[in-house]
Amino acid sequence: MTEQKATNVTWHDGEITVDDRGAFLGQRGATLWFTGLSGSGKSTVAVALEKALFERGKLSYRLDGDNIRLGINKNLGFSADDRSENIRRIGEIAKLFVDSGMIVLSSFISPYRADRDQVRALHLESGFAFIEVFVDCALSEAERRDPKGLYKKARAGEIKNFTGIDDPYEEPASAEIHLHTDEMSLEDEVAEIINYLEEHGFIL
Ligand code: ADX
Repeated sequence: MTEQKATNVTWHDGEITVDDRGAFLGQRGATLWFTGLSGSGKSTVAVALEKALFERGKLSYRLDGDNIRLGINKNLGFSADDRSENIRRIGEIAKLFVDSGMIVLSSFISPYRADRDQVRALHLESGFAFIEVFVDCALSEAERRDPKGLYKKARAGEIKNFTGIDDPYEEPASAEIHLHTDEMSLEDEVAEIINYLEEHGFIL
């Protein structure tokens, strides 16, 4: 748990609530937290889902590992502590976006269960929905895809602490949505998530 350093600071509420913003947008904000190995398809599913939601008049916003690591988290690497801090910051950012009424599509390996559970707790504390999506793909298939050529480098010892090779990935124990991207089509994956969002009243 990160300590609160600044003292004498208090949260300041406005007059427009999260429900007002949701009503304005015609949706209920939530964080969809995609977790899985590099190359498992997290970003691919998020990109396709963002488009499908947009075509239905629903606004979502993607937070993506590589993009965030090029900006706000550019000072973090891949040690366990840095990965935890990466996820903690993203969790806080996701929460702000949900407060704005947005459907957040957050794609990070997020290999540690405790870090993901912390983000879940952070959301639930504020009454926000946290939907964990396990983007499940066999390591052999992720390695076969190797979209960025990183598994090859990791196997050659050119990248240390690479998730799945010489760094751990802890699978979710009870994700709300479990996709098998080495068996399902992208279309079916998107449809499954849209169904979930409809059934749980996030979109109409
Ligand atoms: S996380 O573990 O902290 O959640 P995050 O999703 O932000 O990781 O970043 C993962 C991306 O960084 C991978 O898709 C890959 O492109 C790149 N990367 C570079 N080095 C590593 C590494 N050692 N382990 C995993 N991914 C790495």
